[in-house]
Amino acid sequence: MLHRQIEQRLHAAVRTVLPDADTESLLVRPCPDTKFGDYQTNALMGLAKARKMNPRQLAADVIAQLDVAEWCEPVEIAGAGFLNFRLKPAAVVQMLAGAQRGEHLFFEKTSRPRTAVVDFSSPNVAKPMHVGHIRSTILGDCLARTLRLLGHRVITDNHIGDWGTQFGKLLVGWKRHLNRAALQANPIDEMERLYKTVNAACDADAAVLETARQELVKLQSGDVENLSIWREMIALSQRQFDEIYGRLGVKFDHTLGESFYNPRLKAVAEDLRARGVARESEGALVAFFDDIPALKDHPAIIQKSDGAANYTTTDIATLEHRLQTWQPDEIIYVTDGRQQLHFHQVFAIFRRGHAALPTRLAHVWFGSILGEDGKPFKTRSGETVKLADLLDEAEERALKVIAEKNPELPPEKQREIARIIGLGAVKYADLLPNRQSDYIFSWDKMLALQGNTAPYLQYAYTRVQSIFRKGGVVGGGAPEFQLTAPEEIHLAKHFLNFGIVLEAVAAEHRPNYLCNYLYDLAGHFARFYEACPVLKSTDAERATRLGLCVLTARVLRQGLDTLGIEVSDQM
Ligand code: ARG
Repeated sequence: MLHRQIEQRLHAAVRTVLPDADTESLLVRPCPDTKFGDYQTNALMGLAKARKMNPRQLAADVIAQLDVAEWCEPVEIAGAGFLNFRLKPAAVVQMLAGAQRGEHLFFEKTSRPRTAVVDFSSPNVAKPMHVGHIRSTILGDCLARTLRLLGHRVITDNHIGDWGTQFGKLLVGWKRHLNRAALQANPIDEMERLYKTVNAACDADAAVLETARQELVKLQSGDVENLSIWREMIALSQRQFDEIYGRLGVKFDHTLGESFYNPRLKAVAEDLRARGVARESEGALVAFFDDIPALKDHPAIIQKSDGAANYTTTDIATLEHRLQTWQPDEIIYVTDGRQQLHFHQVFAIFRRGHAALPTRLAHVWFGSILGEDGKPFKTRSGETVKLADLLDEAEERALKVIAEKNPELPPEKQREIARIIGLGAVKYADLLPNRQSDYIFSWDKMLALQGNTAPYLQYAYTRVQSIFRKGGVVGGGAPEFQLTAPEEIHLAKHFLNFGIVLEAVAAEHRPNYLCNYLYDLAGHFARFYEACPVLKSTDAERATRLGLCVLTARVLRQGLDTLGIEVSDQM
């Protein structure tokens, strides 16, 4: 890609001027304001500062050695020592032609593939998946898709909560209150009812609580009956998970839940003790972090005084397993922000054992979804919103919009489009905000055909398709692009940034960059389409403009697919 080629020439020029400089990290990025150029680097200022040189002088010296004339107009120095690059139209045209021939789509597969494990979604067994699981599922899926697209090896692992104290109560409920017919009809609702019933009974009666504890101990020590009930609960839950993942188009390579690590927890605890990472404290085994200011007051319990391991121990075991099995360069955990302390502790414990391992551990955390009143998002009656209900409602609401807009479409087609629009809207609303902020869930906003929404982008896609339909164009192409109108040039140059954006999403785990890129793409396209008639233009113009339409559709489609969002030819 062009910015990489420019970057390489920049590195060469800098090495000529400063033979000892480390140029690896000198980056060429899109110019924040295209008034000044298409690409920019601020790298020379850092170099000059470190060497106490005059930055503008260094910039001038580098430019004297810099050979980018085949792609760029003469390079300009701006401000305190920025270099601004403006692409020559011929270089842009060459890129478009390459994409047109199917050689690339403005991004390249990495030359250094990395292995990444993505741990996301991870709901709990015997509970409904609710709105809180959507962010992890959607964000994690998008990160996995982005990394794969860029040529990395990705392993997705659903770390479901299938082991824990809740099973004591669930077992009591199952044995005393189970309604088989209700379980058949709706397993999750029935298991939820069992849990609630016993939970309330435990609050009222200490004897029930004691029974639940005993059932749990029996399960943990391998009681055959309890194990078989437990397995059934997992299988029933997995059916529910699979149904939702099917709707969302999310796939996992592995579902290794917490129970998978249970047999290893004792050994993990012993190992931490033996290596001095954790020590005895008031009967429990505890990791202290006196040398880490943020964790100084937050020791992590590895094993309680009764010998029970916990979430932390399980995550250490999980980490060890992943390292041994897949040798990842990176492990990405997608959970809500309330688990920050937990992962901070887990990563710190892990580093004590593997200080030299370069594995990157990333806790990709996110904020909450709020209702329009600014409080946690709930149903009208104040309950947690179930994910399946939310997806149903999204499709229903989208169907209303479609039926109004396009009443002549056959009902089947309307429903299919409503599915694509409804699910797309929900996903996009989730990916667009900075993930660390809370966001307000608003049906009207996310389903709007105007503004930065999925339906707007999907609609842009169908507009391009309708140009092809009207023009009777199949494939549509430009033997040679001739960019003249400023709107054509802006659109074309925006294509060129697709790869940079994808790489930034992968590096910083921020899908919102891609959302905003696609929104800008749709904006450039709208301005182009407004100013430059396509089908009614002269032959030469028509070929270029159709070519731009084809590329717009391809980038939009690929970009939305990377967000996990489908498109439709009609809306
Ligand atoms: N099941 C957990 C929850 O619902 C999330 C698990 C996240 N992954 C992990 N390796 N801890 O909160």
